[in-house]
Amino acid sequence: MILVTGGTGLVGSHLLYHLVQNEGKIRAIHRKSSDLNEVKKVFSYYSTEVESKFQRIEWFESDILDLPSLNEAFSGVTQVYHAAAYISFYPKKYSLLERVNVEGTANVVNLSLAHGVKKMCYVSSIATLGKPRDSNRIDEETEFDPEEQNSVYSITKRNAELEVWRGAQEGLDTVIVNPGVVFGSGHWNSASGKIMKMIGRGVSHYTSGRIGMVDVQDVAKCMIALMSSDIVNQNYILVSENISIKELLTQVSILLYKDPPKKEISKRKMILLSDLDWMYSKLFRTKRKLLKVFVNSLFRNYHYDTSKISRDLKFDFTPYQETLERVSKDYSIES
Ligand SMILES: NC(=O)c1ccc[n+]([C@@H]2O[C@H](COP(=O)([O-])OP(=O)(O)OC[C@H]3O[C@@H](n4cnc5c(N)ncnc54)[C@H](OP(=O)(O)O)[C@@H]3O)[C@@H](O)[C@H]2O)c1
Repeated sequence: MILVTGGTGLVGSHLLYHLVQNEGKIRAIHRKSSDLNEVKKVFSYYSTEVESKFQRIEWFESDILDLPSLNEAFSGVTQVYHAAAYISFYPKKYSLLERVNVEGTANVVNLSLAHGVKKMCYVSSIATLGKPRDSNRIDEETEFDPEEQNSVYSITKRNAELEVWRGAQEGLDTVIVNPGVVFGSGHWNSASGKIMKMIGRGVSHYTSGRIGMVDVQDVAKCMIALMSSDIVNQNYILVSENISIKELLTQVSILLYKDPPKKEISKRKMILLSDLDWMYSKLFRTKRKLLKVFVNSLFRNYHYDTSKISRDLKFDFTPYQETLERVSKDYSIES
């Protein structure tokens, strides 16, 4: 029996679709508030046989913070895909991030050990990797630096990884994937969904940075391939392209029949806008829209090295143009 957490999210629902193509029992946890229709929506991008594929999954109501129900969900489980997480960059959300990402992952690890699970795959992020000072190249060995200006999200995802490595030391076979910004159809309120929405409204400016992006289908395929392999206790960066923000905004704008951005905005101006946003939020008690940690990320020029996954799995990533075309097409139909 395979157990999936986060199956109602962007990564988890695409993963579930790929898992139901194979034999074997699949159980996925969901919360009372989860929207299972989002999962069906994702399945509909792949197939017309949505209902029969969806019925292959045994849905179990649980929360990774609720040990008694989670313990029941683990009954008979041999493999775990742990994709549940809380994603936020707001410092005020630190305690919730800590609970869901760190304590929740510790619960999944501890129950995997207690139930004799054979192997676990944890979805981490490139946010847990370090930021080198003397080069722009990042690989799996680039150590997270707690002294750096890290986001609350990356701190908690890093601490969650430490829980997984602790589990590995206690005898649980694990693999960790570190995806870049995940692009996939559906869940248009997710990170990449918000990027699609923003470009759909039209963008006039671009910044000088680049991001590591990856197709959600490649994330799902790599996770399944790693779990079926003999590879244990390793982590893998999943990035198909280190794409400049200008190129990303231009490509998607064209695909959504919008004018591509023409003007570059400087970091100084963006920091100023972020300061104004901070003042506005203090004066009018509104939610911050432009956090400094986000501004900084728009001007980074890192190159995520994916030679480890290419070598160990002989995996070829989907060309980024193909990913953007497919996702933009699905977004256009629905918007
Ligand atoms: N999206 C990206 O660009 C990206 C990039 C790198 C890494 N990642 C990582 O990939 C994983 C999946 O991300 P995603 O984009 O799919 O996120 P998402 O769409 O926001 O989905 C999050 C999932 O976690 C579940 N969840 C949250 N709190 C939970 C709790 N207390 N108990 C049980 N389930 C809970 C949610 O369930 P509900 O439906 O009930 O809310 C949902 O299924 C995360 O670990 C994230 O850190 C994502």
